[in-house]
Amino acid sequence: MKLKLDHVVKTFKDKHAVDGVTTELTNGVYGFLGANGSGKTTLMRMLAAVSRPTSGTITLNGEEIGKMGDRYRDLLGYLPQHIGYYKHFTVEKFLYYIASLKGMEKKAAAGKITELIEMVNLTEKRKTKMGKLSGGMKQRVGIAQALLNDPKILIVDEPTAGLDPKERIRFRNLLAAIAKDRIVLLSTHIVSDIEYIAKEILIMRDGRLIEKDTPQNLVHHIERKVWSVNAEEAEVPGYQASYKVGNISRQMDGIQLRIISEEKPAANAVNVPVNLEDLYLYYFDEEVGA
Ligand SMILES: Nc1ncnc2c1ncn2[C@@H]1O[C@H](COP(=O)(O)OP(=O)(O)OP(=O)(O)O)[C@@H](O)[C@H]1O
Ligand SMILES: [Mg+2]
Repeated sequence: MKLKLDHVVKTFKDKHAVDGVTTELTNGVYGFLGANGSGKTTLMRMLAAVSRPTSGTITLNGEEIGKMGDRYRDLLGYLPQHIGYYKHFTVEKFLYYIASLKGMEKKAAAGKITELIEMVNLTEKRKTKMGKLSGGMKQRVGIAQALLNDPKILIVDEPTAGLDPKERIRFRNLLAAIAKDRIVLLSTHIVSDIEYIAKEILIMRDGRLIEKDTPQNLVHHIERKVWSVNAEEAEVPGYQASYKVGNISRQMDGIQLRIISEEKPAANAVNVPVNLEDLYLYYFDEEVGA
């Protein structure tokens, strides 16, 4: 399968939310990184055929998705960033409801719903009303509904928001397991969500796709720009003003700063192995300290 985006633009009034994205997606997990407002949701909504590009085209195996109608929706699972849940529905009823919207027969839905509820670890909450679930539990119901029709294209917009670390790992493993013969596109702010499972990482900035590469290559790109610096407490603000500072760890023998910089930021600075968090800092310095 091949999803192809060709100069995709989405404009709201005079705002270019997505500004000319051209790329190709094939089977595997794609991690979608970008600061707030960079256009991830807007692009994902177009890929989910919920909205149409202002200009440009999105095709699946050569056919424009907007013209495929139900044939596209049958292939698609979508978890929107903000999903409306019916708080008086139980988990089970909600999933039956979504299954019926997807045109599934009740019998087929029943088996699938049991399987998915188990997979997202909500068997005990099956009869609980949605309004009584925690944020993370609701998110897991959202993931389950996206998988109801066994989609070949799965688009999940910040699916791990509100999940605790254990749930997050579980979800990551789940995605990795189902990604084999599907296109999975996942947006997140949390680099560790995708670091190990993404075939490629796409980085958005101001509506543009500025990088698309394997995690290894992206990390390689900033090798020797990541430093560890030993500092005194009083020096910290100075470093923060002049550099992109990531982790600050305060230990018995002083303070360790993680700094992203083209040049060596201090005499005692040493290069350290790069991780994708560093990459995030490198591209989105406005998020420093957040
Ligand atoms: N319906 C809309 N009308 C007007 N502007 C919009 C609309 N939807 C999005 N935008 C604008 O388009 C830009 C991209 O928004 P989008 O929600 O796609 O970003 P995002 O990368 O998903 O951000 P976040 O990380 O906060 O979810 C933002 O400037 C946003 O304000
Ligand atoms: Mg978004």
